[in-house]
Amino acid sequence: MEPILRAVNLTKKFGGLVAVDNVSFDVSPGEVIGLVGDNGAGKSTFIKMISGVYQPDGGEIFFNGKKVSFADPRDARDQGIETIYQDLALAENLDVGANIFLGRELKKKFFSEFISRILFSAVLGLPLAVLFAWAAFHFFQWPGLLLGMLTGLGLGSVLGWLFACVTQLVDRRKMAGESAGALKRLDIEIPSLTQQVRNLSGGQRQSVAIARSIYWNARMMIMDEPTAALGVSEQRKVLTLVRTLASQGVPVIIISHNMQDVFAVADRIVILRRGKKVGEQIAAKTTPDKIVSLMVGAETVHKMGVIPRALENNGSAKV
Ligand SMILES: Nc1ncnc2c1ncn2[C@@H]1O[C@H](COP(=O)(O)OP(=O)(O)O)[C@@H](O)[C@H]1O
Ligand SMILES: [Mg+2]
Repeated sequence: MEPILRAVNLTKKFGGLVAVDNVSFDVSPGEVIGLVGDNGAGKSTFIKMISGVYQPDGGEIFFNGKKVSFADPRDARDQGIETIYQDLALAENLDVGANIFLGRELKKKFFSEFISRILFSAVLGLPLAVLFAWAAFHFFQWPGLLLGMLTGLGLGSVLGWLFACVTQLVDRRKMAGESAGALKRLDIEIPSLTQQVRNLSGGQRQSVAIARSIYWNARMMIMDEPTAALGVSEQRKVLTLVRTLASQGVPVIIISHNMQDVFAVADRIVILRRGKKVGEQIAAKTTPDKIVSLMVGAETVHKMGVIPRALENNGSAKV
């Protein structure tokens, strides 16, 4: 299958520090990639280059077969690359529907919109026409009257029209319906869509953020430590959601410290160490031990023979 994303030899330096050093990998539709590495390995820096936060100092990114360079995160998002950070960028005091449509609210359409524009135009246009006509008549007699009337009418209509656009009523019912549909398509259960987001659990918020991205046509999803702040059952739900996304053709790059999580969702695991890609493994054909030894380097594992055992106990690779 044609990869949806190809990162080729990406490099990023901060002063003298090479945070990401010549890293390449592909992402195919429907694939989940686990991106792992110790703290400071360059994971976040790498995905920030793909999501438009940083400009690479070297290398190229191809998305849907075309070479791309993203000016900023908005640019990447417009082209379909969504990144979900831990803060999620939800509006706490708004409900689920309003959050899915945040900044892109649906307006009541057609009649009400049209009529309100005509109404506001008339309300502002007619008095202005009279006023201008009256004023202009004093200076230029009848031609002035006509000119003043037309000017007043035109100006008033334009102002009224703009005013109507700005004060347009938001179509809450339609947004609620669309939101419910978006959540359902991803098998997300949220008891009440009219809840303020602040009352939702961490996993539910995560789901709302993901549903929003999908609703707005995300073609690829990047998640940086999505389960770090969640309880166990919530973690499961988010991981299930990641698989649902993949099964609907949306690939996911997921950064995680937690080996169990990575093995639960990833098809492929890419390992970074000190900015370099030190391995790429098919999840079904490798083991957490192997991944950890790549993460920390063979010599470290050798010195600290306890790591693999600790891993067996809690599945965590925090070292
Ligand atoms: N904005 C920055 N300015 C300077 N150094 C940075 C910046 N962001 C990250 N780094 C450094 O780059 C390296 C990789 O960081 P990061 O990508 O955050 O690693 P990870 O996400 O794998 O923990 C680290 O050494 C970090 O200190
Ligand atoms: Mg990071």
